[in-house]
Amino acid sequence: MLTSKEIRQSFLDFFASKNHKIVPSAPMVVKDDPTLMFTNAGMNQFKNIILGNDVIKYPRVADTQKCLRVSGKHNDLEEVGHDTYHHTMFEMLGNWSFGDYFKKEAIAYAWEFLTDILKLDKNRLYVTVFEGDKPDAETQRATSLHRDNEAAEIWKQFLPENHIINGNRHDNFWEMGDTGPCGPCSEIHIDIRPESERQKVDGLTLVNQSHPQVIEIWNLVFMQYNRKADGSLEPLPNKVIDTGMGFERLCMAIQGKTSNYNTDIFTPIIAEIEKITGYKYV
Ligand code: GLY
Repeated sequence: MLTSKEIRQSFLDFFASKNHKIVPSAPMVVKDDPTLMFTNAGMNQFKNIILGNDVIKYPRVADTQKCLRVSGKHNDLEEVGHDTYHHTMFEMLGNWSFGDYFKKEAIAYAWEFLTDILKLDKNRLYVTVFEGDKPDAETQRATSLHRDNEAAEIWKQFLPENHIINGNRHDNFWEMGDTGPCGPCSEIHIDIRPESERQKVDGLTLVNQSHPQVIEIWNLVFMQYNRKADGSLEPLPNKVIDTGMGFERLCMAIQGKTSNYNTDIFTPIIAEIEKITGYKYV
């Protein structure tokens, strides 16, 4: 069984082999951005590059970022302690392209890493694409009117059509915060239920339904806009790939567990707590 350390390293090695510069995680407390208190995604440290305010030193970058989702737009606090796959602090594996590759390569890399390198079962994977959006009734402002047919067409090279699902603005248009970089996204979900359950209920019907064993593992964001304070969308100077994969969830899937807490990221810590407190973790 691959350890969590090996899984993390294989992600970094894979993207290094695709000419990505591996960079360190940024601090979790954001110091120079009044729109954000804590790092909520891997892309935060690249915000100024994405907006065109900083030079692009490396057009391809990958890392593993420590994130805290306890406030603001991406807040998981209500889920923590209630389910098996949300955390206050978690690690996000990510790869970026700043004006270099776009959807075709980002999708192909993600598929290659999950199915060729990590050998996840293709039949257990589902993807979502942005279904498009109607203008807001009051402001007549739309996020984007069109379905992301381009992403859907690329996914069809890898998956049957009944594994490609439309998703709404809530799930498939990723925004860093109330303002800042944003764009349509494609999520990869995995069904880790036992075969007997999969025979009874199609995994397709459980995607985005808060099922603890049919969960999102990787989000591929196709950044194209900057959301302004008045709500309008301004095109970015470059198209940007911004991906985020839940490291703890990936380890759960690879290690054949049904809870993130049963992976070797947590079990040594839990064993130590058991020793100190005399209580058994069940
Ligand atoms: N920036 C991608 C994500 O957090 O899902």
